[in-house]
Amino acid sequence: MQTELLCPTRDDTALARAATLLRAGEVVGIPTETVYGLGANALDETAVRKIFAAKGRPQDNPLIVHIAHLQDMPALCMDIPTAAYQLAEAFWPGPLTIILPKSTRIPYVTSGGLDTVGLRLPSHPMAREIIRLAQVPIAAPSANLSGRPSTTTAQHVLDDLAGKIPAVVEGGACTVGVESTVITLALPTPRLLRPGGITLEQLQEVLGTVDVDRALHEKISDDTRVSAPGMKYRHYAPRAPVIVVRGNPADTAQYIRTQTDCDTGILCFDECAPLFEQNSFVRTFGAAEDVHAQANQIFDRLREFDTLPVQRIFAQCPPENGLGLAVSNRIAKAAGFSIVTLTHKEGAK
Ligand code: TXA
Ligand code: MG
Repeated sequence: MQTELLCPTRDDTALARAATLLRAGEVVGIPTETVYGLGANALDETAVRKIFAAKGRPQDNPLIVHIAHLQDMPALCMDIPTAAYQLAEAFWPGPLTIILPKSTRIPYVTSGGLDTVGLRLPSHPMAREIIRLAQVPIAAPSANLSGRPSTTTAQHVLDDLAGKIPAVVEGGACTVGVESTVITLALPTPRLLRPGGITLEQLQEVLGTVDVDRALHEKISDDTRVSAPGMKYRHYAPRAPVIVVRGNPADTAQYIRTQTDCDTGILCFDECAPLFEQNSFVRTFGAAEDVHAQANQIFDRLREFDTLPVQRIFAQCPPENGLGLAVSNRIAKAAGFSIVTLTHKEGAK
């Protein structure tokens, strides 16, 4: 199959064409503010199965359902608590997915067999227009091959899925760069399942207490039942193994210097790059203090290492507050939670 690149800035009919394909039961790569999604009609089991097939995604990993208007929410879920409206009011349209008990309209194929559904109202104008024109809710996981880093440009989508899907919409680079925050309201206390574009601190401001799922901080074995099935799979990973080094930037850079040889990749903060002048495979992902830049660049850099002849990759990592929690989580997952934590004393040796 030839994958068509639809360019709304050059072609007025591009978004309508994407919507027509979606209505016809096809899958389409679509830009959102977080990452590119691989969309299909969330209510059409056959269409949704094509998403799982194209990505090679395990069937028990539920899909997020994207809507264009808040009014679309009640038909898709049940027992909506006030907290859902408070979150929607504060953060929609935007990078937040809210999990609620699903209505019968959502097929189990879409929900990965669960009785809940994750809903998100994206802020990207093209995403919203496509959903509006398609007139159906759109199920969309990140548009990468399962296990690979998420896609933040149309080119990334083509790199992974060209020939497997009929079309991708060119919407430029994603502004957030990491996926949406996933919170479940289907438990007695709201629980953060995946950190993302909306921070834990922002959620706490609206809801008060928010539990944090343990899958954020540890590797979950394949046979463990988890709240967000996606959290147990190896994710975001370049081909070479990644080792995360936590600690202050000066210490971690110093530590990494002592570990590298000629086939080591290094992912570091901008200001640390000069320390690795001898190394050919250094990639930077923003200044140590600039987590927005880091979020924006992390997936592109992880993908870039696959084009380099590296045997292993050392990565610096921001502290886990604000958007840093999401960036840090993606790097830890890329490393399969292979983490070296330096205390200041060790690093200074
Ligand atoms: O920013 C995003 O969320 C992007 C864009 C395209 O919207 N989508 C995305 O989808 O990241 P995906 O499938 O790559 O990640 C969704 C995560 C998975 O870890 C999945 O297990 C979890 O959300 N999830 C989805 N529905 C769920 C549910 N009903 N219960 C628990 N976890 C759920
Ligand atoms: Mg994904």
